[in-house]
Amino acid sequence: MTHSDGPLRLLCIVGARPNFMKIAPLMRVFRARADRFDARLVHTGQHYDEAMKDAFFRQLHIPEPDIDLGVGSGSHAVQTAEIMRRFEPVLDELKPDVVLVVGDVNSTIACALVATKKGISVVHVEAGLRSGDRGMPEEINRVLTDQISDLLFTTEADGATNLMREGIAADKIHFVGNVMIDTLLANRERAIPAEETLRGIAGFAGDPAEFGVLTLHRPSNVDDPVVLRRLLEVLVQLSDRLPLVFPIHPRTRGRIADAGLSPLLQGSRIALTDPLGYLQLLGLMAEARIVLTDSGGLQEETTALGVPCVTLRENTERPITVEQGTNTVVGTDPAKIQACFDDVMASGGKSGRVPDLWDGRAAERIADALLAWASARAKAA
Ligand code: UD1
Repeated sequence: MTHSDGPLRLLCIVGARPNFMKIAPLMRVFRARADRFDARLVHTGQHYDEAMKDAFFRQLHIPEPDIDLGVGSGSHAVQTAEIMRRFEPVLDELKPDVVLVVGDVNSTIACALVATKKGISVVHVEAGLRSGDRGMPEEINRVLTDQISDLLFTTEADGATNLMREGIAADKIHFVGNVMIDTLLANRERAIPAEETLRGIAGFAGDPAEFGVLTLHRPSNVDDPVVLRRLLEVLVQLSDRLPLVFPIHPRTRGRIADAGLSPLLQGSRIALTDPLGYLQLLGLMAEARIVLTDSGGLQEETTALGVPCVTLRENTERPITVEQGTNTVVGTDPAKIQACFDDVMASGGKSGRVPDLWDGRAAERIADALLAWASARAKAA
């Protein structure tokens, strides 16, 4: 039910690190228009520690969550089920008009599923991305969340094509741009200079003007010790040519230790560091010669920054970063990684353009579209 006489009552959901930079501009716009939006924030607790959560809330001025479900880590089934169990009474108590979810993590599908079964409208921000790889947990989360969403906001034109192929009505889909890039543009000037961050990383011995950034955390890259070893071996070789800074995800740190691969990195020019804050990583990426990653967010951020990105995956759900941006998807074959790295070092990599509507105003467009949608629904009721 939409209350046409008062502000739209939104319950906004975050859970894991990549959600935080997506929700920040939305909460800012909703709170700035408090006459039209009553927006509350729920954190599921999927990510919970200082480096994976608190640093982002502080740096991005995200309001403290009104509710923290405190679920923590677990298998996919346990984590998803626990979020659903703890979220249901929150909906019963608050009875929002809309549940707004972002991205593709377990928190996204868990909360969307609880809401839709209670007849509460679901809004999905960053809808329609598809890698075509159902082996990726995020792909399952994307497809299912989109199927049960009432309003779907896309970041690139392919999103609508993907959604309509899956039977989603065109009038539910709005191409609004990219809220993650809203955050990047809003914080570009606040980014911490690379030199300052590199000074604090004990293992970094290179010239602060000549470095690359490496991140790895996808289960397909880090959970299998054979794949992980093969990747780390080629990355160690690359680091002989260009020192690499490797802010290491807790999952990856654990897998490297379990697989006995720590000695491979010791003595190399890959400098490990704990996960970095948003402003530190933004500063590093902006000044890096190359970014090697399996992250979805970094593919988009490097395209917005015009920095060459080498994606260590066989596919991407963000094809626009390849077609228009600076991204090359190379997979995990060492020879291909080496060749792409050589090319970037020799030529400076692809020159790209910033995709349409990645202009810092996506959250405002979402707010406007939400109000128009709510008012049309109220009239129809
Ligand atoms: C999740 C998302 C993934 C996203 C990634 C970003 C799903 C299916 N996956 O994967 O899409 O790219 O977040 O990080 O939702 N841990 C900590 N501290 C924390 C959180 C986690 O140490 O604050 C450790 C735990 O040991 C945990 C492991 O990291 O078991 C993995 O966390 P989890 O949330 O299960 O998945 P991610 O790999 O982070």
